Amino acid sequence: MKCKDLVSVADLEREDIDKLFALTAEMKESCKRGDTDLCLAGKTLGMIFEKSSMRTRVSFEVAMTQMGGHAIYLTKHDINLGERESIKDVSKVLSRFIDCIAIRTYDHKTVTELADCSSIPVINALSDYTHPCQALTDLFTVKEKLGTLDDIKIAYVGDGNNVARSLAFLCAKLKVTCVVASPENYELSTEFLDELERRVKDKDSFIKLTSDPKEAVKDADVIYTDTWISMGEEEEAETRRKDFNGFQVNSELTSHAKKGVFVMHCLPAHRGEEITDEVMDGEHSIVYDQAENRLHVQKALLKLLINR
Ligand code: CP
Ligand code: NVA
Repeated sequence: MKCKDLVSVADLEREDIDKLFALTAEMKESCKRGDTDLCLAGKTLGMIFEKSSMRTRVSFEVAMTQMGGHAIYLTKHDINLGERESIKDVSKVLSRFIDCIAIRTYDHKTVTELADCSSIPVINALSDYTHPCQALTDLFTVKEKLGTLDDIKIAYVGDGNNVARSLAFLCAKLKVTCVVASPENYELSTEFLDELERRVKDKDSFIKLTSDPKEAVKDADVIYTDTWISMGEEEEAETRRKDFNGFQVNSELTSHAKKGVFVMHCLPAHRGEEITDEVMDGEHSIVYDQAENRLHVQKALLKLLINR
């Protein structure tokens, strides 16, 4: 990979993504066969988590274990990044001890500063702005299920949040049509769309916005949703639940998409809010395959970034 870090999907060239997906498929196959690959023996991943996590924490830790390495979980209480000591000092010292950092935090600038100051790779494990490991997993999963990313349409129904931004960015890079349906005031931000415009030529051919979920899912191969209330937005919960009325992924909405549409969710899901039980547990849902692929994609990512 050309980049040292994965702060955003913007860091990745098309060839890096192709290489990552090919290695993920290969490593997933070999993992299913029961082969062992101790390519990260003796290597350590530091995992700084300032927010809750299940999938990201567990998949990174299991990834290191399966590749013969080790992971250290560091919560806010352990290192109190930026308060007990500066981000710069933490990154300089961790760079002397360990081989890679994964960080989940609120402010995206914390990730960029950590990456800029460290000599080891830094992986964004979710910030308020983006969730690149999720988007890479999502498009790997779509490719695995459909056999291609050519001429497909993904409909994202919900908040124009960190997950939506990474997904839209990666879709634009990979020339996948992504229609984002959000209520007024929850659309992908102008700031984000301007960044996308600067980084990806002809993004308008692939990224479209609407306020009509039915229009978004028409002829869609994939319907994607995420929580209406992201971590850090709990105080807005009541307002958001009202504002997102009509944006639930339910059987009625999925009936407007292609017959064999796949339904995806990064999880955790709030059953009965952004998605119904019927859809989560129904024939279209691939949410658990999607979740499993976090492990395989991150194994390939760690291998490429640490063993450069
Ligand atoms: N999708 C995802 O990142 O899940 P966690 O918040 O549980 O890590
Ligand atoms: N948008 C959600 C994603 C959780 C994986 C959040 O930031 O809480």
